[in-house]
Amino acid sequence: MKKVSKSPKETAEIAKTFIEKILKDKKNNDSATVVCLSGDLGAGKTVFAQGIAKHLGVKNKVASPTFVIYKKYSLKSKKHKFLYHMDAYRLKNEKELLNLGWKEIIADKKHLIFIEWPENVNKIIPSHARFICISADKNNHRILELK
Ligand SMILES: Nc1ncnc2c1ncn2[C@@H]1O[C@H](COP(=O)(O)OP(=O)(O)OP(=O)(O)O)[C@@H](O)[C@H]1O
Ligand SMILES: [Mg+2]
Repeated sequence: MKKVSKSPKETAEIAKTFIEKILKDKKNNDSATVVCLSGDLGAGKTVFAQGIAKHLGVKNKVASPTFVIYKKYSLKSKKHKFLYHMDAYRLKNEKELLNLGWKEIIADKKHLIFIEWPENVNKIIPSHARFICISADKNNHRILELK
């Protein structure tokens, strides 16, 4: 699926469409739903994750987790009890994330996980993860691709 967004608001709308599709497609039901957000600095990965959080009823302000590696939010949905918004930007390798309990986090089917900068920890991204790639075109619109 590929969409063009002209504003942060449109990115949030597209985020809704993408998450509905991801949940519908999901075959692997015995572990977490892992969604990787790829794209340059300022591409709109956090804006996208904030859109998802809002759509799923998270009331807290969803800030960029850059300085904390990840933030965890409670969800009311039947399928997922927690939303993880993770940011691997500052990580040099997989070790730090493994030390934070990554294996347990991705093993739990009640977890919905969004991770920015997955490239920094690509060795420990599960094979069933979905990818959303965000890039800017020459008009500074964002191209969002769900892979
Ligand atoms: N169509 C658009 N969709 C999303 N963001 C947009 C769009 N157009 C402009 N922007 C702006 O681009 C910026 C995106 O910032 P955001 O923090 O989401 O990027 P990021 O990919 O998370 O970057 P980082 O790698 O630093 O975490 C915001 O300032 C937002 O207002
Ligand atoms: Mg970000």
